[in-house]
Amino acid sequence: MAFIIKKNIHGKEYYYLNENKRINGKVKTKTLAYLGKIRKEAEKRARDILDKRTVKKEEIKEAPEKKSENRGGEIKNISIEELATFCKRKGFVYQSAEIYGGLSGFWDFGPLGVELKNNIKKEWWSFHVLQREDTVGIDGAIITNPKVWEASGHVANFVDVLIVDKKTKERFKADKFEAEKYKSDPRFEVREEFNPMFITQIGPVASDSIKAYLRPETAQLIFANFKSVYENARLKLPCGIAQIGKSFRNEIAPRDFLFRSREFEQMEIEYFIKKGMSCPYKVPNEEILVYSAGDQIQNKEPRKMKIREALANKIIAKDWHAYWLANEIRWFRQMGANIDNFRIRQHLKEELSHYSSDTWDLEYKFPFGWKELQGIADRGNFDLSQHEKSSGKDLQIFDEETKTKILPEVICEPSLGVERAFLVFMFDSYYYDNERENIILKLNPKLAPVKAAVFPIVKGAKFEKIAEKIIESLKTDWNVVYDKSGSIGRRYSRNDEIGTPFCITIDEESVRNKDVTIRDRDSRKQIRVKITDLRDILRKLIENPGKFEESGKIFRK
Ligand code: GAP
Repeated sequence: MAFIIKKNIHGKEYYYLNENKRINGKVKTKTLAYLGKIRKEAEKRARDILDKRTVKKEEIKEAPEKKSENRGGEIKNISIEELATFCKRKGFVYQSAEIYGGLSGFWDFGPLGVELKNNIKKEWWSFHVLQREDTVGIDGAIITNPKVWEASGHVANFVDVLIVDKKTKERFKADKFEAEKYKSDPRFEVREEFNPMFITQIGPVASDSIKAYLRPETAQLIFANFKSVYENARLKLPCGIAQIGKSFRNEIAPRDFLFRSREFEQMEIEYFIKKGMSCPYKVPNEEILVYSAGDQIQNKEPRKMKIREALANKIIAKDWHAYWLANEIRWFRQMGANIDNFRIRQHLKEELSHYSSDTWDLEYKFPFGWKELQGIADRGNFDLSQHEKSSGKDLQIFDEETKTKILPEVICEPSLGVERAFLVFMFDSYYYDNERENIILKLNPKLAPVKAAVFPIVKGAKFEKIAEKIIESLKTDWNVVYDKSGSIGRRYSRNDEIGTPFCITIDEESVRNKDVTIRDRDSRKQIRVKITDLRDILRKLIENPGKFEESGKIFRK
């Protein structure tokens, strides 16, 4: 029997035509077709398909809605646990030192995970540093002079509170503001406050060693080096200093796979302006769910609007904040994330960090709820003035306009966790294709761990020689693999599952005509291209994935 099912995925409705068949006494469901997002059109399409199959129209019935489909649709909603299992099975991420039982809050990245992570960082750096005239990068030390953390307020004010659920015995962290709410609820016990910075010792002999910290954020190294970087790179306000690197926090309750870990990486920019300077850049034309502090206080729902509109209506107070929020959304969109799963949320006054006067978070709808993906804080001149006071060094710069010395302000600090971005790209690209009966990781080719798999269709030295030559010519630019084992179908599905966007196959004709077939992961279409053009074509396909059919002679649709 055939029937239409409606799936609700990330708040959107999708219709599919499914069919139940009894095989060996067991009822098996197969998806016959994806019918689109509009019910009427879906019904029409279903009738057309079934008419062709001469199945009676009366057989079309609607099955009860299923929220999360495990198998049987094109799109698959998966839990964080399922994603963790997939990541382990495919070699993306393992528990750190699993042979010893792992260690809570620490993760090791496998052969595919390290490639994906490196690609995320490379694309972030390219977009935020290399493609901008106003931003340069640094790479600061993980352990630095502990005075940095005294000046920044981390020693005194970076505090987590341990909360214990008396009923379930669950332990979790809250900030000081959240802890107040738990105090009035008898179900919870508000335990001790503690500082999540990891402490270490510099010097081998305990008696004359210095107590130091593993950095809890990369940002402070930007502030501590600000004056030198500003002068060396001959920066002019407004300007940014960026950094990617490890940060460490002794989290009370690391959880949700990579989401909250004790060792993670941050990609941060401190964007400096002269006080009052307006933003010269056009706010990118991005639309998103906006959740202002006012709407949260009044228990209203977030509203979908253009960021430009939010600025014009003073929901976002400052042009710089609107610009950076839209800029970050644009980066995620260009990298293939689904912006329908994103929103921006303003911090309530009580929630603000000790250094910030206004913060907006870019949040993502994780399977465990809306959570912070990236924070974008207005830090003012808190940090530079603290470091001036604490170090006794003049960190002011000369302002040509007023011919006076000024202390710049950080109008925005876009701060993103690499691992949280990693989760977003995995969730948004993870599909189960019922027809192929395998997972397809539809990662943007720029992020894909393996850019191309090369394999001969049939065994034979002459084909293998061509494959090896192709690998040789591509491997200086990209991570490409020579996949020899299993049937062709198995090789395609193995590569679909890890997100390899292109498979290059060699056959009898390749020997005669010196050409190969490129197969596109998502559409399964194939084009035929000359081996001599392969490198240039692959480059174009990775840079511009929408243009597959225009890149060669269509071989198979
Ligand atoms: N310099 C500002 C700062 O560090 P934050 O909101 O504490 O601000 C910024 O952290 C980002 O770092 C977060 O939005 C998140 O993406 C990431 N992050 C923070 N703590 C994390 C943790 N324990 N595990 C994974 N990522 C984390």
